[in-house]
Amino acid sequence: MGERVGSSSEVRSRAETRRVRSSQEWLDHFHGNAARQRAIPWQENGIGVDVAELAPIRRSLQGWQLGETSDGRHLAAAADRFATETDDPAYREVIALFIREEQRHGALLGRILDDAGIPRRQTDWGDSLFRRLRYSITNIEVWTTPVVMVETLAMVYYNAIRRATTSPVIRTVCAQILADEVPHVQLQCERLATLLADRSRTRFHLTMIAHRVLFAVVMALVWVGHHRALRAGGFTWNHYRKAAYAKMNRAWQRMDPRRYDWT
Ligand SMILES: [Fe+2]
Ligand SMILES: [Fe+2]
Repeated sequence: MGERVGSSSEVRSRAETRRVRSSQEWLDHFHGNAARQRAIPWQENGIGVDVAELAPIRRSLQGWQLGETSDGRHLAAAADRFATETDDPAYREVIALFIREEQRHGALLGRILDDAGIPRRQTDWGDSLFRRLRYSITNIEVWTTPVVMVETLAMVYYNAIRRATTSPVIRTVCAQILADEVPHVQLQCERLATLLADRSRTRFHLTMIAHRVLFAVVMALVWVGHHRALRAGGFTWNHYRKAAYAKMNRAWQRMDPRRYDWT
């Protein structure tokens, strides 16, 4: 099958040499980040804005709250197998801390809904679809791929929500989630780069084509489900699409094995 992508130096020679962070470095990141959480200016009653302002975003927030709330069992199982296969037991703990951070997002959004008097939802078509996509195959690569795409789109989304409201509570929670998501995307991209490094050039390029098709679909679905909230944050379809591709192009660069030094 020819040269492995990971052994090519064509991209690396143009950029500084980077290496994929070790599980220990990721553990340090998650522990440090947990200690650096922003103080949310919760209020005695409500979230500091009237219900009319929340009208365009309330249904969408219910969906994302559900999406951020997952017990992570499937991911933990996939990470467990991956940790065994790669002889990297600390990776289990990395994923446990990653899941805890996502659950913290779910809890923050849940409290926003509760304080605003918006009921929490138990089902949402976007959330169900995304779960089915992740759970259908237990392979870590198939799990990570849609997740990195949704996390990338989450960065556009929470940016829109932050701009759609004057509530200091919602704005601070969005800022916290945005700050957490940048390393999340990096973590998933490094994982994918590790998995893709052993692939032949041909299979790597086919994988990237599949990524582009999947991303176009996921990006469109997020727009279908959340365009009202995105619009309230100032994002037209064109603006949203451009922002989404700008972020995803950066993620694709970060999952390219040629970017890293594997020696
Ligand atoms: Fe999250
Ligand atoms: Fe995340």
